[in-house]
Amino acid sequence: MKTLKFLFDRNQGWADAIKKDNPHFFSQLSAQQTPDYLWIGCSDSRVPANQIVDLPPGEVFVHRNIANVVVHTDLNCLSVVQFAVEVLKVKHIIICGHYGCGGIKASLDQKAHGLIDNWLRHIQDVSRFHQKELSLLNDEDRINRLCELNVIEQVKNVGNSSVVQNAWKRDAELSLHGWIYSIENGMLKDLDMCIETAEALDKKCRL
Ligand code: CO
Repeated sequence: MKTLKFLFDRNQGWADAIKKDNPHFFSQLSAQQTPDYLWIGCSDSRVPANQIVDLPPGEVFVHRNIANVVVHTDLNCLSVVQFAVEVLKVKHIIICGHYGCGGIKASLDQKAHGLIDNWLRHIQDVSRFHQKELSLLNDEDRINRLCELNVIEQVKNVGNSSVVQNAWKRDAELSLHGWIYSIENGMLKDLDMCIETAEALDKKCRL
């Protein structure tokens, strides 16, 4: 008897439905993956990468953590970025945050949350960089603006990683994107962080 049997039943139904549409789907997919996109998003259960952009298995390489943070000492995230860029040769890295992010809220609330507070320090750094702008907003607007600013800072972080810098040095076709998702209406918003060269990144970082 399988534990969580209902999930295996759902899996069977899902695989059957896909095979009904295309009997070779899984055998073709098992031969190789050639995704064009690396998605770095929040672990939040309401922000599933493939479903939001309506792409099937095989199209998006995914890394998720609390509050979609790219830290230069995080071997997990950096390994994903390296594999995606150097082996899979993705053409786009998308950092996707979301409004109302629990990690962002927790970073602002001055309470103790245990181990995770060490991770949230990275978001508090983002708050510090933008303290002046954030201090002018009411609580709800401050959370949502910090959700946006966090995406913008994480695009800069991934762009400044050695993996992305080296890719641009060898003229690889690689662009960065900063997006934010609204759980309330299911819509994505582009935060105008489309960056295709090291020079363009420098310019954004100086702004
Ligand atoms: Co979140």
